Amino acid sequence: SGPRAPGRPGAVPAPPNGPVIRPRRLRTTPAMRRMVAEHRLHPADLILPAFVREGITEPVPVSSMPGVVQHTRDTLRKAAADAAEAGVGGIMLFGVPLEKDARGTAGTDPDGILQVAIRDVKAEVGDDLVVMSDLCLDEFTDHGHCGVLDARGRVDNDATLERYAEMARVQAVAGVDVVGPSGMMDGQVRVVRDALDGAGHQDVSILAYTAKYASAFFGPFREAVDSSLKGDRKTYQQDPANGRESLRELALDLAEGADMVMVKPALPYLDVLRQVADAVDVPVAAYQVSGEYAMVEAAAANGWIERDRTILETLTGAKRAGANLVLTYWADEVARRLNRGE
Ligand code: PBG
Repeated sequence: SGPRAPGRPGAVPAPPNGPVIRPRRLRTTPAMRRMVAEHRLHPADLILPAFVREGITEPVPVSSMPGVVQHTRDTLRKAAADAAEAGVGGIMLFGVPLEKDARGTAGTDPDGILQVAIRDVKAEVGDDLVVMSDLCLDEFTDHGHCGVLDARGRVDNDATLERYAEMARVQAVAGVDVVGPSGMMDGQVRVVRDALDGAGHQDVSILAYTAKYASAFFGPFREAVDSSLKGDRKTYQQDPANGRESLRELALDLAEGADMVMVKPALPYLDVLRQVADAVDVPVAAYQVSGEYAMVEAAAANGWIERDRTILETLTGAKRAGANLVLTYWADEVARRLNRGE
């Protein structure tokens, strides 16, 4: 038998006027803290956003997101297989086409890069990883907006919806499990649902970008998709000043048939995440966006912050605020750390 347990010899009485109730009792050991933890990260809660670029033979690093690349078709397959092996819940695919034009034609081409990538990844991982695709035009348009423009150069809501319907159909034919309409056009969830159902894709689900803000934290993503956007997205994405407005977007998305809803970015909008989580009975996702990733990596690279702890703290914060799922560029790494018992 092993060494004798030490027990608690020689305890002295507590001082007379000390506190009776001591929250620190539940923080005494790692085992105690683990047992009473209210929230836990699990690899299956994490979704890995991934970029695939047409026509490259080597992955291209995204300089504002150290550790993130634009994948080739082959390295994307490998990344998806690795994520599945690590137990990551899903992958969200973004395509970067060779040719961009005003209507984002590559986004609806059955052989466009995003559709090809969906087929590749499904062939690689089958049903072991939920395969999701961004359903938006900004990666495919030469002006960089999430929709098509009218004669005066404004984003035309209803003309854009027709393009989204077509995107939904081609992504579904390619085999995607979940589409993520992220363009913040009014009525987009309904149009996508109808397009899917009308083409016999009733089982493809919709992760609605419900509360998506016109955020400076998307900056590095624009490099990741070679965006040519000039100006901003303030006529369609939400004003950071508005919280209650998200509940209106939420009610619409649910009425239009959203299966899951999302708040994006995560860290500056945890209050919105909490409000949304309290209001719904569908899964809620938070998107920890490119700028959140870049901010932590940059501070860590300078030695100003403890990288690994900070990453887990940001993700746990999103869960505590009500997220069931978190999209994060660290998904694969964090899943592996969790599997090792961190
Ligand atoms: C739109 C889209 C964007 C992001 C995800 N989907 C860019 C935008 O709205 O400007 C940003 C994600 C990130 O910053 O990590 N297709």
